[in-house]
Amino acid sequence: MSINYKDYIADVPDFPEKGVIFRDISPLMENGAAYACATDEIVTYAKSKGAEMICGPEARGFIVGCPVAYKLGVGFAPARKKGKLPRETVSVNYDLEYGQAALYMHEDAVKPGQKVLVVDDLMATGGTIAATIELVEKLGGIVVGTAFLIELKDLHGREKIKDYDMFTLMQY
Ligand code: PRP
Ligand code: ADE
Repeated sequence: MSINYKDYIADVPDFPEKGVIFRDISPLMENGAAYACATDEIVTYAKSKGAEMICGPEARGFIVGCPVAYKLGVGFAPARKKGKLPRETVSVNYDLEYGQAALYMHEDAVKPGQKVLVVDDLMATGGTIAATIELVEKLGGIVVGTAFLIELKDLHGREKIKDYDMFTLMQY
């Protein structure tokens, strides 16, 4: 089935602040066929990279990463925002297109030497994905690739992760 994924992205000007065009993935997730196709494309990429674990940042990284992990039959390790994880964590601070944040992972979420695919819905400045990669590597994981539904090319996030392979379904 051939899908024009951009038909399922809502472009919302001036959200969450003036000057930002928010690329809302909700319509894609709400369409079973589009969601399944997008998931399957990332699964194919993950297989080609030999991924043994999927990792994604809160919250939209979970929407993209969990069905990929389920379909592959591997685990999903969440990178979460402050104050959410109950056990010992590692953390990384990072900058967003519109603000600053920190991400945390449980210190046993990824095993040393495990091959990890890092996924998110969208790459803007690349801060979130770079932080997630840094967390996985702090835990000894090997990042075998990155996958996104959307890349915002004007923000040059790719430069922050140029040492890593990258798969995207849509570019703006
Ligand atoms: C959004 C998006 C990515 C990140 C991309 O998440 O889902 O994770 O921003 O921006 P960057 O490349 O500039 O880091 P957000 O922090 O808004 O959180 P959410 O998924 O909980 O909405
Ligand atoms: N996260 C960071 N920038 C974004 C954007 N422009 N649209 C949707 N999510 C985002």
